[in-house]
Amino acid sequence: MKVIAVKDYQAMSVAAAQAVCSVVRANPGSALGLATGSSPLGMYQALAAMCKKKAISFRKVRTVNLDEYIGVPETDVHSYHYYMNKRLFSALDVVPKNCHLPNGMASQLDDECKRYDRLITELGGIDLQLLGIGQNGHIGFNEPGSPLDSGTHVVTLTASTRHANARFFSSIEDVPRQAITVGLATILKSREIMLLVSGAAKAETLARLLHMDCVDAGFPASALLKHPRVTLIADQAALAKAGAVVNHG
Ligand code: GLP
Repeated sequence: MKVIAVKDYQAMSVAAAQAVCSVVRANPGSALGLATGSSPLGMYQALAAMCKKKAISFRKVRTVNLDEYIGVPETDVHSYHYYMNKRLFSALDVVPKNCHLPNGMASQLDDECKRYDRLITELGGIDLQLLGIGQNGHIGFNEPGSPLDSGTHVVTLTASTRHANARFFSSIEDVPRQAITVGLATILKSREIMLLVSGAAKAETLARLLHMDCVDAGFPASALLKHPRVTLIADQAALAKAGAVVNHG
């Protein structure tokens, strides 16, 4: 894993946005795997600003999001559809039909998971997958114990994930209990992966990841150790407990 250590959230966001732009400039029709949560928000703002200045175009880009809550309509402010439209898509020159998320309202969820896997295959796979990390090591919504060979699937969220995400809802009871997530196998098939980690609350999690030397299903992000092209962009606060491992990048 290549480690890029930066000062703070803002620096992480700018570095990540520049990396995305490099991929898109090299291949304007790139398929980008996108994430939600707080980690990529600053990067999305930076991309929106660059697009507004016409420094980059996303007109030919295809996007595939990692996950969506089950039972939350697209128009609901808590859905990841809403998040993506508000925080990114509406500020870019993307073509809406090229922007994909799992449908958490599908009546046949297994069929929806298969459809999403087929879609990713039809897009030719993901060129750059962006990831955040949960405090319990989840990536996407692949919670501890998720199989390494999983495609898109329905997941029951752990109490810790629901607790962490409760800040976006009025109460913990309102946080959905299930989600659809792209699986670890799909994430690992991406040609390149960029993991964004910021803040003291992630320091323990990141130290654990950086000191692992083999994959442990109990800590899903360790699956990234199997991938040859992972770049971690992390700020000082997130790296505070990682020690010398950072120097080995
Ligand atoms: C959610 C998302 C993940 C995200 C994680 C971390 O559970 N499903 O894709 O990486 O939260 O979120 P944050 O970046 O807000 O810490």
